[in-house]
Amino acid sequence: MSDIKITIIDREGKSHEVDAPTDMNMNIMEVVRAYELAEEGTIGICGGMAMCASCQCYVLNEKDVNLPEKNPDEEAMLWEAFNVKENSRLGCQIHITEEINGLIVELAPES
Ligand code: FES
Repeated sequence: MSDIKITIIDREGKSHEVDAPTDMNMNIMEVVRAYELAEEGTIGICGGMAMCASCQCYVLNEKDVNLPEKNPDEEAMLWEAFNVKENSRLGCQIHITEEINGLIVELAPES
């Protein structure tokens, strides 16, 4: 049993509860792409290097999960990105682990 549940609200406001594997070294951005929850070419543009912010999402239930702190690259990119809020994170920097089971994120608008 290595799947966790993640809820992803797409850019149209539609909510999707998806299973995400903890044993495939995936991150949130890759899960969004795997389930085609954002239009091709609008997410994951830098390939998950914390250099484009196309994977920005808002974490809606931070207190329910054990999210890792932002790393310096993520901090720096969010500093420059558009539509940034208090609860913004880069999906590519959040790895799928047991600690984030039940996470709810909303994709930030395309910028
Ligand atoms: Fe580019 Fe996450 S995919 S910052």
